[in-house]
Amino acid sequence: MINSNPIGLFDSGVGGTSIWKEVHALLPNENTIYLADSKNAPYGQKSKEEIIYLSKKNTEYLLNKNAKLIIVACNTATTNAIKELRSSYDIPLIGIEPAIKPAALHTKTHTIGILATKGTLNSELFHENIKKYHQINIIEQIGFGLVELIEKGELYSEKMDTLLHQYLKPMVEQNIDYLVLGCTHYPYLIPQIKKIIPSTIKIIDSGEAVARQTKKILEENHLLNTNNRSKVNNEFYINDSPKVMQELIGKSFKVIKKDF
Ligand code: DGL
Repeated sequence: MINSNPIGLFDSGVGGTSIWKEVHALLPNENTIYLADSKNAPYGQKSKEEIIYLSKKNTEYLLNKNAKLIIVACNTATTNAIKELRSSYDIPLIGIEPAIKPAALHTKTHTIGILATKGTLNSELFHENIKKYHQINIIEQIGFGLVELIEKGELYSEKMDTLLHQYLKPMVEQNIDYLVLGCTHYPYLIPQIKKIIPSTIKIIDSGEAVARQTKKILEENHLLNTNNRSKVNNEFYINDSPKVMQELIGKSFKVIKKDF
């Protein structure tokens, strides 16, 4: 069966494009619509109620565009709102949570680090999930200011370097061997992070796993698009300046500024 309706994705801003890239690489036949709610970024500093409100608004926008499946391309929105979204909408929803499990299973030093937003690290869902790994030492660090700098396009700035040093050095000193990136904006910081931490520390994020899960859910629900690849349509909408997002996704795709 062919279902050419789009996969919808949303994030508080440009970060979820790191997830979109993985999804597009694995499922190149699929039409997609990406919403960047940059006007309201960062979500990580907002209350749970506000995050739920914004997540519902984004979801409804994508449903109006006939999305057949929605990826909540934001750890903060997932950990705070996925339960409410699942109980409110009758559509497959894929959430993104920090990839603690592979790090916890493979750590040799029994110490792993996680860098994520305040909203994610303080969420009930995150706390519930890490209970399983009480035998290892999980060093949690809030990435204050990182999302704001990425949204401004200051990825390679002195300010970024200073913050990353401040957040990562204590983890290195405590002998982590895995660093989990628990925010979809952070994969864009991997080159900068690699300059700070030793190469023996593995960096993991959830992008590939989410793409695989998306494929599995589409298959199970008979929602895959088996149409010819040349007809694929990838739409990107942002409710603030499109400049940074355009740079992050490259010239092959057009980012459109729109109020939503
Ligand atoms: N990309 C979001 C996440 O994965 C960003 C958070 C924010 O807006 O603070 O958590």
